[in-house]
This record gives sequence, C-alpha cells and structure tokens, in this order.
Amino acid sequence: MKTVGVLGCGLMGAGIAQVSAAAGFRTIVLEVNQSVLAKGLARIESFLAAGVAKGRMTAEDQSAILGRVSGTTHYPDLSACDLVIEAIVENVDAKRQAYAQVEAVVGAHCLLASNTSSLCVTELAAATTRPDRFGGLHFFNPVPLMKLVEVIRALSTSQATFEALFAFAQALGKEPVTAPDRGGFIVNRLLVPYLLDAIRCLEGGVGTVEDIDKSMALGCGHPMGPFTLLDFVGLDTIYFIANILFDEFREPRFAPPPLLKRMVLAGYLGKKSGRGFYTY
Ligand code: CAA
Ligand code: NAD
Repeated sequence: MKTVGVLGCGLMGAGIAQVSAAAGFRTIVLEVNQSVLAKGLARIESFLAAGVAKGRMTAEDQSAILGRVSGTTHYPDLSACDLVIEAIVENVDAKRQAYAQVEAVVGAHCLLASNTSSLCVTELAAATTRPDRFGGLHFFNPVPLMKLVEVIRALSTSQATFEALFAFAQALGKEPVTAPDRGGFIVNRLLVPYLLDAIRCLEGGVGTVEDIDKSMALGCGHPMGPFTLLDFVGLDTIYFIANILFDEFREPRFAPPPLLKRMVLAGYLGKKSGRGFYTY
C-alpha cells in the first residue's frame, strides 16, 4: 500500500490523514468544499506544530508529514489510491453515495474501509461493488493520541482484506483488535450507554454537569468526565450513534435522551460548534 485516500477532513478524517502521512503513506483527503477542507488541514498543521513545540518531533519531520498530505474536493484525485478510508457523517445514504463516487475512479485492487462508529459494516459493504474488499477501521478521537483501532470484518470481507486492514493499522503504530460487526463493535457498545446515562442523570437531577464530570474524573480516574467527552466527540455524532444502536438492539439503554435530541436540534453540537454542555 502506497497511497491512501481519506473521505472527510472533520474531527476524525483530519486525524486519520495525519497518522497515515506520519506513517509514510502518500495521503489525499477529500472534503465537500474548500473552506471545510482548509479548516481540517489547519487542524493537522496545528497538531504537528504543537508536537514540534513540545519537542515530540522535529520541524523536518513536521514538513515531511505535511508534504505527504494533500487535500482535494475532486474524486478523480483519488484514482491512484490503494486504500480509501471513509470518515464522513454517520449516515448510510451519505456513505453509500460517497462509495459510488470513489468506485467510479479507483482501480479494482483498491480497498475500502469505513470509520463508522455504529453502522452495520455488512450493509455498507453490500452497497459497493467490492464487498470482499471492504471492512471497518474504527479509530478513536483524538486519532493521533488514541492507540486503539477496531478492525471489523463484514460477512463478505475476504481474509486477505481483513489481514491487509489489520496490518495497515499496525503500520500506523496503532494497536488493532478484531471487533464483531455488531452495533457499536466493542468500545461504543459499552461507552455509549454510559454517556447517555450521564445525560439521563443530568435530566433526573442527580448532579450538575460539572459535578458529574468531576465525580467520574476524580472518582474513577477517567481522563475526561462524560460531558467533556460528549462535547469532544460531538453531540450530533452521539445522537446518530444512539439512534443506530437503538434501532439495532431495541434496548432503552441505547435510546437517545430527550435533552440530547433538543441540543442537537438547537445546533449545540459540543466543542466543534462552540457550545454543548459547556461553552468554548
Ligand atoms: N503532538 C504530539 N504529542 C502530543 C500532542 C501533539 N500535538 N499533544 C499531546 N501529545 C501527547 C502528550 O505529550 C502526552 O504524551 P505523554 O503522556 O507521553 O507526555 C499525551 O499526548 C497526552 O497529551 P496531553 O497531556 O496534552 O493531554 P491529556 O493528558 O489532557 O490527554 C486525551 C488528552 C488523550 C484526549 C485524554 O483527555 C483522553 O484520553 N480523553 C478521553 C478520550 C476518549 O475517550 N476518546 C474516545 C472517544 S469515543 C470514540 O472515539 C469512538 C466513537 O466512535 C465515538
Ligand atoms: P465531523 O462532523 O467532524 O466530520 C465529518 C466531515 O465529513 C465533515 O467535515 C463533512 O464536511 C465531511 N463530509 C460529509 N459528507 C462528505 C462527503 N460526501 N465527502 C467528503 N466529506 C464529507 O464528524 P467526525 O466526528 O469526524 O465523524 C466522522 C465519522 O467517524 C462518522 O462515521 C463517525 O461516526 C465516526 N467516528 C467519530 C468519532 C468521534 O469521536 N467524533 C470517533 C470514531 C468514529
């Protein structure tokens, strides 16, 4: 594998493009328009600049990594890719449309992977003309700092594809685990009900946002309390995930609490929109 495409340069796509370029792959990241693309590429640059300032990497490393990343808004620029990782909005139809545009320009050998948090990977694979060369590569936020990648095999994923995706995650310096194609895989199956429960605690008057966060950070050693983490992940993304998991399992613990729905409708999406449970 030499050339990697990344669809979406949001929270996750920017991080995936960064770690791919840092591992030596020529990386092309695609966005819907120039202004979102510029914002995503600026996020990569500022993370790398902070790394240089902290003495984590040299200025030469930084410019070599940036030299391997390019941004585009045109699908034909992905034609040389050996692997395309999709990290766009958590919606089956949007992902399906993006795969059709990728498949119109890449070669037959090119692997496709989704960074979906909760969607059925077999359904996504079935929406392509290469279900055997499709799998899940689930990264964690912030991608450059979180070591785990869940590698998900759809029913149709070939052994060779699964092994190539697993090896790719290792080549990025990540620790891959094999996760089942079941809603939420391993991490989100456990994490999402906990985050939704924190919102239910808030709705039920158990504590304030600050006190619930402080309790879980200082009482359980979590690096972030649940509301800081909800804001960090993005409330729209959590809302999509909750609906998808509820649809899969029909268990109340996955159902989005009313407050979450209203915050998303009001545009309070967390850190990325400047306001969520906290104001940024
Ligand atoms: N370049 C290089 N290294 C950097 C860096 C940079 N720009 N910024 C930070 N680092 C390094 C630091 O040097 C530090 O390394 P050491 O411990 O070796 O010194 C490490 O990264 C941690 O950085 P900080 O000390 O600055 O940050 P922190 O201690 O406040 O931790 C955090 C930040 C890693 C984000 C931590 O708060 C955390 O783990 N939060 C929880 C995140 C989480 O749960 N993510 C999963 C979300 S769910 C998901 O992603 C799945 C989904 O589908 C929704
Ligand atoms: P985000 O909203 O930060 O970014 C999504 C980006 O995709 C946006 O910049 C948008 O402009 C772009 N986009 C939308 N449609 C596109 C298209 N057709 N082609 C190219 N770009 C397009 O979202 P995110 O948090 O980066 O999440 C992206 C994916 O990663 C979702 O599937 C999400 O479930 C998953 N995920 C998110 C997290 C997290 O913590 N936020 C963690 C793991 C996985």
